[in-house]
Amino acid sequence: MKKIIIAIDGPAGSGKSTTARLAAERLGYIYIDTGAMYRAVTLAWLKQNEVFSEDVICNLLDNIKIELKQSEYGQRTYLNGEDVSDEIRSIEVTKNVSPVSAIGCVREKLVDMQRELGRNGGVVMDGRDIGTVVFPNADLKIFLIASVDARAMRRTLELKGKGTFESVEEIKKQIIERDLYDSSRDISPLKQAEDAIEIDTSNLTIEVQTEKVVGFALEILSK
Ligand code: DC
Repeated sequence: MKKIIIAIDGPAGSGKSTTARLAAERLGYIYIDTGAMYRAVTLAWLKQNEVFSEDVICNLLDNIKIELKQSEYGQRTYLNGEDVSDEIRSIEVTKNVSPVSAIGCVREKLVDMQRELGRNGGVVMDGRDIGTVVFPNADLKIFLIASVDARAMRRTLELKGKGTFESVEEIKKQIIERDLYDSSRDISPLKQAEDAIEIDTSNLTIEVQTEKVVGFALEILSK
């Protein structure tokens, strides 16, 4: 059976990761969370304790190894052989990831890796520029949106579940800042591809949004 490429883009907290992971499970595809790769570079820079500069980060890139491995709990992210899947979700990484992901050499390297990972199809890849830059010819492009309030509430609950307590207002502020940064950067900004299907997840359950994505995929596969 043909194996397609599914691109899921959208702003922070729109439900991309969970939807992409569950849709991949349903289809027997590999799920690739590209945000985790930008987060791993950010963590590597934070660990280095160096100033923020393009030169520092571009040099660092030549000396780090990022790997994504599939486990029964979904994707695990490795930095220089160490599993950093939890560390890359820290508030510190989240606060710094947007400026790091706006650097040209970072995008070049990670986009190359992402294209390699999706080369044979059978992937659901989520990010900000998958349908516009990484795979402009993806078979199915989804753009998830949701109100800032809904997104802030989801992130707050997600963090709470992991034992981190932040106010909804603080998370909302961070989301607005990150949206602005991600959508106004010069290289590959967060943008909806013209041929992407938009789904507003503000009032949808994860099951319903997953069902929609799987439905679109099965329709394409049946042709
Ligand atoms: O999806 P996330 O919150 O884990 O993404 C972290 C950051 O990485 C996000 O602020 C923007 C950046 N990113 C990107 O620029 N391009 C991608 N394909 C994925 C993420």
